[in-house]
Amino acid sequence: MHPLLGYVDRWSAKPGETIKLMVSSRDGAPFEARFARIQCGDPNPRGPGYRETPMAHPLAGTHAGKDQRTHLGSWIEIPSLDLAAAGDRLVICATIWPTTPAKGRQSLVSWIGTDGVSLSLDVEPDGATATLTVAGKTARVATGKKFLERAWYDVWLVVDRAAKTLGVGQRAREIHPTFDDEGSISTTLAALPGLGAGRACLAALVPSDVAGKPSCHYNGKLERPTVWAGAMVEAALGQQRGAVPRSGEAGLVACWDFAIGIDTLSVTDVGPGGFHGRTQNMPTRAMTGAGWSGAEHRWTHRPQEWGAIHFHDDDLGDVGWTPSLEFAIPADWPSGLYAVHLKSANGFDNVPFVVRPGAGAPKAKVAILLPTVSYHIYSNFVRPGWGRQNIARAKEWGAIQHTPDENPELGLSPYNYHSDGSGVSVATMARPMIDKRVNHFEMMDPAEYGSGCYWVNVDSYVIDWLTRKGIAHDVITDHDLHAEGVELLKAYNLVITCQHPEYHTTEMLDGLEGHLARGGRLMYLGGNGFYWKTVFHKEAPYALEVRRAEGGIRTWATEVGESYHAFDGSYGGLWRRVGRPAHKLVGNGFSAQGIYLGFPYTVNDAMNDPRAAFIRKGLESELRPGAQLGERGYMGGGAAGHELDRADFRLGTPRHALVVASAVVDHPQFKPVNEDRLDHYWPLPLEKLIRADMVFFETPAGGAVFSVGSMNFVGSLPIDGYDNLLTRMMTNVVQRFADPTPFG
Ligand SMILES: [Fe+2]
Repeated sequence: MHPLLGYVDRWSAKPGETIKLMVSSRDGAPFEARFARIQCGDPNPRGPGYRETPMAHPLAGTHAGKDQRTHLGSWIEIPSLDLAAAGDRLVICATIWPTTPAKGRQSLVSWIGTDGVSLSLDVEPDGATATLTVAGKTARVATGKKFLERAWYDVWLVVDRAAKTLGVGQRAREIHPTFDDEGSISTTLAALPGLGAGRACLAALVPSDVAGKPSCHYNGKLERPTVWAGAMVEAALGQQRGAVPRSGEAGLVACWDFAIGIDTLSVTDVGPGGFHGRTQNMPTRAMTGAGWSGAEHRWTHRPQEWGAIHFHDDDLGDVGWTPSLEFAIPADWPSGLYAVHLKSANGFDNVPFVVRPGAGAPKAKVAILLPTVSYHIYSNFVRPGWGRQNIARAKEWGAIQHTPDENPELGLSPYNYHSDGSGVSVATMARPMIDKRVNHFEMMDPAEYGSGCYWVNVDSYVIDWLTRKGIAHDVITDHDLHAEGVELLKAYNLVITCQHPEYHTTEMLDGLEGHLARGGRLMYLGGNGFYWKTVFHKEAPYALEVRRAEGGIRTWATEVGESYHAFDGSYGGLWRRVGRPAHKLVGNGFSAQGIYLGFPYTVNDAMNDPRAAFIRKGLESELRPGAQLGERGYMGGGAAGHELDRADFRLGTPRHALVVASAVVDHPQFKPVNEDRLDHYWPLPLEKLIRADMVFFETPAGGAVFSVGSMNFVGSLPIDGYDNLLTRMMTNVVQRFADPTPFG
């Protein structure tokens, strides 16, 4: 892990509010903290230039460091599990769908008594195993039958004190012809202890130290672990395949029914002891169980068929570091993008945050809405080799040098696969998001002078541009919009979203639509925006979930039957498929994807429409049909690139929208999006699909929308000191959109 890393507990705060900063400093080295307001985060010396204003703060200075670590892998913690009721014969059953059965020891159910006796039922390369440790002596018995990956099995463990045996077994839910994957075995022990009070873990091995972390994390689905007293194995297996036992069922000690509380962190024991638990590190819930019939796809309608949880040995929730600083935002700090810079003898880091306008403070008429929900989803996107590829340039530029691929302890993003090959559907911000930094670039830019930046650094171009043009603005975040909805936006005539606002919650879309409905204006300066639905966890607000259902450009797809979010039961996937297409909101929507290479736009005849006169104002001789815009840019060398959006009336673009400029990209590395394809032909000629459309339209309430349709667009704003045709045109749009005079 990088020797100095930090994270904050919230993306934004108002003056007077406090942000918690958690820092890990290797070997406890002291670290220095200083604060700055960011004008431009791009470290490229040939770009607009990294610029910031130092900000005095009482907590700036040197602080004691603390070495803090992360623990990967999810599990369920059962703080109390008393097995005394099991008497002379204990049977533990579970239903599993292992995804990496050859990996090594993976505990399914593990228990440790207050007297130090421990017991576990595990998946191992030689099949189901039972392990019992008494007074430091361990007995282990294994079926010797290899599990098949991604197949359902019932597994069990038997402790028979009367017979002095420890037994284990596994039986497949479906017969697998030619595979020898079932069996049971027991071993005789000299003596078996009585079992009593203790604690347990599900899907990991319980630590001997109560303050410790578990080990032997399980990869795969686990369903309904159950503990019986006095039961025979066949009876217990019969129960495992039937309905969930009731609390009063004879012999029932504990049964964890994961179908209860799917949208929570709680795990319910329906047995008489109420040995409830809690999920740790965000395993994936609402997973189809062994009995999923396929007749129903929405887990809220028949939760008992989604009684499985998928655990991963690289899941991560809240890393839980101790706060190092709790800093209040001074009353005189204006709204903007800020960072706290950290430095120790071992390294440096920074953590960006946003200062919102104060509660009673006058607000600007323009708000820059930083797409922090998309930052959050994209955080720690591990791309193998990128760290090695970027390091020389990072050193030369004095930029942040750490990358997710070189810091795997910090977890993954929903652009990655888990170690078992399943897609990552949960993103946490309660950890260092080391690729969401200022003074940071993402990739080696294909343009020789380009910056290769993304996210907050290119979004800072928008801040830099408005600042240089003297256009007063506030900075707010997606997280604020989610929490406050349209109320957040009511003071603003114009809301500007940035380079890549791809992920939205229902509440965020409601807020933006509400803003337009009351005559507000919206500028969307990116590409591939308003694309995926995402959902916050109600008990773990640091966590977002994405179910990549049906179609769309995506690195993985949800499994059949798992397209509804666990966090709120809603259907996942593209907003276009959920009935709220980007085209309807902003006039264009994702149409083509390519490499990080930019191309110019060409002005269309529609620019001459009288309704577009404000766009041309003072530029009439240059913004003629056929003229080019954005021929240069610090993102891939041009304004239209990487991900492109087109206007399409069939998909929801308002009929009266003007497409004032377009960029048709003819490059072999650019392809249309798959959600447009139904058979072996594309539905339209490629030039109608691989294009960015710049769209303007008025709304019925006197507001308006302007969208550019390209992810690389903002990279062209800083060209020639923000004084180029594209930027002058965009300044016209901002000025008109900030003016409250209704659009006719
Ligand atoms: Fe994206």
